[in-house]
Amino acid sequence: MLESASLFRSLRFRLIASVVTIEIIMLSLLVWNNISIIHTTHTDRLRDTAKSMIQQIANTSGNHMLAVDYATLEQYLSNIINYKELSYIAIVDRDENTVIALGSMVPDARPVVDTHPAQVSDGIYDISRDIQVAGQPMGRVLLGFSLSLMDDAIYKSRNRGITIALIEIVLTIIVTIFIGLGLTRRLGMLSKAAGEVEAGNYSVTVPTEIDDEVGKTAAAFNSMVAKVSKRTRQLLQEEEKTQQLLSENRLLIQKSLEVQEEERKHLARELHDELGQCITAIQADAESIRDLSPQSDKRVITSADAILNVSSHIYDVVHSMIHLLRPSVLDNLGLIEALKEEIDTWNQRNPRTSCIYTFDGDLSELGENINITIYRIIQECLTNISKHASAKHVSIELNHHGENLRLTVSDDGVGMDANTSGHMGLGLIGMRERIQALNGLFSHETSSGNGFRINIRIPKK
Ligand SMILES: Nc1ncnc2c1ncn2[C@@H]1O[C@H](COP(=O)(O)OP(=O)(O)O)[C@@H](O)[C@H]1O
Ligand SMILES: [Mg+2]
Repeated sequence: MLESASLFRSLRFRLIASVVTIEIIMLSLLVWNNISIIHTTHTDRLRDTAKSMIQQIANTSGNHMLAVDYATLEQYLSNIINYKELSYIAIVDRDENTVIALGSMVPDARPVVDTHPAQVSDGIYDISRDIQVAGQPMGRVLLGFSLSLMDDAIYKSRNRGITIALIEIVLTIIVTIFIGLGLTRRLGMLSKAAGEVEAGNYSVTVPTEIDDEVGKTAAAFNSMVAKVSKRTRQLLQEEEKTQQLLSENRLLIQKSLEVQEEERKHLARELHDELGQCITAIQADAESIRDLSPQSDKRVITSADAILNVSSHIYDVVHSMIHLLRPSVLDNLGLIEALKEEIDTWNQRNPRTSCIYTFDGDLSELGENINITIYRIIQECLTNISKHASAKHVSIELNHHGENLRLTVSDDGVGMDANTSGHMGLGLIGMRERIQALNGLFSHETSSGNGFRINIRIPKK
């Protein structure tokens, strides 16, 4: 069933089948038309021959009958009976008595007269004509023509016509198959080549063979494939270059992030060690001045207290700067403790929102780079939520199972509408770059009124 359906779809089959069908119909019509013309021509000829012959005989017979010279009449008629189509001749007198009967005629038989050879049913075309002399009836001539010779001729002509038609059909089939196979073979090569190009093989070429329409199509196809192939090669090279640039960029970003973190760490240490010591010294000095001032001079005490206040404020500011630059807990107690501290502080600062977290899997040995990346991303997410989200609930999930470290931060705040959800500020771009520098995947989902969600996956080698 399937095979016959695909046979009907084949151009080769349809071409040959339609040409052969049309040929058979046309030739059958032609043969049928020829046979009827041959038939009419033969029967008309016989009728005309018979008519002139019987007229001739009737005229001649009248004179002989008048002279009652039947011997000469018989002599005359026996020459005529040799005519090859003539079956019998009979002369009857006025009283319908047979005077002469030649050929296959039974003397007393009176065959029914036929009007036309085409309407004969018994194989003999019977005609009769009255014999008159000077208006006086003398009798009748009866003639019978055998149709077998005519039928034979018609039969032969018809067979010849059918044979020629059959030869023509066979020749047409052969030529159509020959041309059809050639044409469809070449079209087949074209379609196969197109399939290969579709599969990505641009080295195919189709032989042109002959400079006809198919040949021209093949040449155009070849030149098109050559152009596409050249362009594809260029694109691939450009893509390769772009990929290389991108990976160099990522490396650069990774390096600059590392340098930045290193610098922050260094700054935090300097602030802690140098500025911290100085402020402590200033505070100690201010306390000594206050304690040692003569008779507890009020103005001195006030100034010393002011110095103490200012230096304690500076101490707090320096401490929070140190924390922002580098949370010491990250280095001392690890990622989880640093995150817990960060989230707890955030919850205290944002009493209308509650942030919960789940940490799962082994998160202790992620390495300095990943630790600081995760920490900074969560910091930025929480900042964004307090800046943009007006959320009630925030959930942070961090887990490490198998090969991947996954982080999701989601909130139930106002989200972002579809028109602007593609827009990324420096915060989101920074997150993406940090993740891509670690060969990870970063995505965010949001829609107006449906919160904001960030998904991160980092492969852990
Ligand atoms: N949790 C959030 N809820 C709603 N909108 C957010 C959230 N996080 C980020 N956005 C939107 O994404 C934009 C880009 O964020 P970001 O890249 O961090 O830049 P910035 O915070 O400096 O605006 C923000 O301006 C804000 O409109
Ligand atoms: Mg931001």
